[in-house]
Amino acid sequence: MTTQSKQTLLSDHVDVRMLVTGSDPGEDRADRNTIVQLDPDHPGFRDQEYRARRNRIAQIALAYRPGQAIPDAPYLPEEHQVWRRIWEALEPAHRDHACSEYLSCIERLNLDRDHIPQLSEVSRKVQSISGFRLEPVAGLVKPRVFLESLAQGVFLCTQYIRHHSTPLYTPEPDVVHEIIGHAVTLASERLAELNRLFGEAVRRTTLPEPLERLSRLYWFTLEFGVLREDGKLKAYGTGLLSSAGELAAMGQAELRPFDPDAASLHDYDPTQYQPVLFCAGSFESLHQQLRDYLVRW
Ligand SMILES: [Fe+2]
Repeated sequence: MTTQSKQTLLSDHVDVRMLVTGSDPGEDRADRNTIVQLDPDHPGFRDQEYRARRNRIAQIALAYRPGQAIPDAPYLPEEHQVWRRIWEALEPAHRDHACSEYLSCIERLNLDRDHIPQLSEVSRKVQSISGFRLEPVAGLVKPRVFLESLAQGVFLCTQYIRHHSTPLYTPEPDVVHEIIGHAVTLASERLAELNRLFGEAVRRTTLPEPLERLSRLYWFTLEFGVLREDGKLKAYGTGLLSSAGELAAMGQAELRPFDPDAASLHDYDPTQYQPVLFCAGSFESLHQQLRDYLVRW
């Protein structure tokens, strides 16, 4: 499977390896606005216009202060085209593989399929439903910063979109993953509650090893969680729901019964489709079990 065809995310908000790479291990106070450096194999690496636009969008986040209105990101017509192309691939995949909680949230948010919606507009809609706000960040942030903000009902979102040459692939979470993945699930009161409880659990966690366990648990639930619905395998994890490739591949994964302890101890490789997924018996049992686990953490 080549990098270009697997249409997955190379890393995400809770990828604990970011704690080691590109950050000073002695630095405790994490900066939520570290700009992502594009690797030489990034699809946009040689596109100077794309890189300039990424920097302009990053500047919005760098200048942003909590509580302010979120400035609009400047998207080009070819970027709106990427958004349309992604919806064309995702809508049938959602019909087949998304859990009903997610599908009802998608309906509630009624997102624009033709133009990339601005964070400010999506944030207003989500806040009116679950109280969660979206705030812009320039790029990936350290897992602790990302997770702790959830305790305050804040979801840190990137605003840039992936390079137009690879509409179905991104090596890092972009506005597609943030909006079609996370923002939609935050329009579920129960999924918003689980996000908030993750943040509160992280706040009570000081040592690196338990923080890694919470990051892995987030990965195997709110990013890559699956469950059974009417006997069928369905996704509730945002890494799956924002990628048609991931949704198509999830049926090939080895399914293990959802067990928060086991998930928190299971390592993963973010550069591949997930070979192991943890499957809950239903949305209700997932919500109850994960909620209880996080409250007791
Ligand atoms: Fe994510």
